[in-house]
Amino acid sequence: MPTLIPRILVFAGSVRAGAFSAKVADVAQRELALAGAEVTRISLADYPLPILDEDLEREEGIPHAALQLARQILAHDGLLIASPEYNASLPPLLKNALDWVSRVRWNGNRAVRPFANKAAALCSASPGAFAGIRGLYHLRAVLMACGAEVITPQCAVAHAAKAFDDNGALVDAQEHNQMEILCRVLVERAAQITERTEP
Ligand SMILES: Cc1cc2nc3c(=O)[nH]c(=O)nc-3n(C[C@H](O)[C@H](O)[C@H](O)COP(=O)(O)O)c2cc1C
Repeated sequence: MPTLIPRILVFAGSVRAGAFSAKVADVAQRELALAGAEVTRISLADYPLPILDEDLEREEGIPHAALQLARQILAHDGLLIASPEYNASLPPLLKNALDWVSRVRWNGNRAVRPFANKAAALCSASPGAFAGIRGLYHLRAVLMACGAEVITPQCAVAHAAKAFDDNGALVDAQEHNQMEILCRVLVERAAQITERTEP
């Protein structure tokens, strides 16, 4: 049984005012704390990034915001991302942020791989019936390519305009249950990986 209190970074893949994915991230943030994690919540709005272009990268280097985001990930044991689905995939804001962070190889004079040995958990939200679940398969593949260990449970919230009560909690018992399981497994896995990989 892990004894370490894992640090989990939570963010949404949308910066839209009133974003459903941010509401799901709010639920996850509370649930992770209940599951015993130390939670940090960030917004990608605080990490503005140009569209990744290798010429730009060669000429100007890694943008400061990408380095800052990579440092946030490095400082945590795991991450939870709540994402919208755009055309059955992940939105460009999120893909671009992940791509930039994947280019970060150095933190000062220390060689780093920001996603290596990080447990990752995924949530989605959509106003539609399919809950954004197709996008999660793509997001899962991208994070795995970056070296993260994406856990199997996920939480997809359908009909998002009606999915939250006045306190911001999930109305649907099954979705609430999915979220509870997701957060519990993430906390356990993040603690296990850190205990295994850090002296
Ligand atoms: C370019 C674009 C593509 C979209 N494609 C999908 C889709 O494939 N599936 C879906 O459920 N919703 C889709 N939507 C609707 C989003 O789910 C909806 O705008 C949602 O509120 C966005 O997430 P957010 O509330 O977290 O910003 C799309 C929206 C946009 C702008």
